[in-house]
Amino acid sequence: VNLEQFRTLANEHDLWIIEDACHAPGGYFTDSKGQKQHCGNGVYADIGIFSFHPVKHIACGEGGMVTTNDEALYNKLSKLRTHGITKDNMSENHGGWYYE
Ligand SMILES: Cc1ncc(COP(=O)(O)O)c(C=O)c1O
Repeated sequence: VNLEQFRTLANEHDLWIIEDACHAPGGYFTDSKGQKQHCGNGVYADIGIFSFHPVKHIACGEGGMVTTNDEALYNKLSKLRTHGITKDNMSENHGGWYYE
């Protein structure tokens, strides 16, 4: 998929691009500047997703990977990964094992 063209369209309409790269580790397209753009590199999509399901290229039972170059999205995704459990901004200190 030529994500460069989708990026232009997304920018025109204030949309995000979530790149489903579940079957595409190592995949790429060549952009208008002649640069190889690998799937999930975050240059044209806001978020890339890869699946680690047993039938995919990288398999580990279940699970997957999300990639982004957007720091705010990264921070939000990091919290979602742990179901909101965090050691950041804690209101109490009960030792190293404690989290909120
Ligand atoms: C293109 C594509 N996207 C997403 C998924 C979903 O991946 P998962 O099963 O890891 O949620 C699949 C699984 O078959 C897929 O082929």
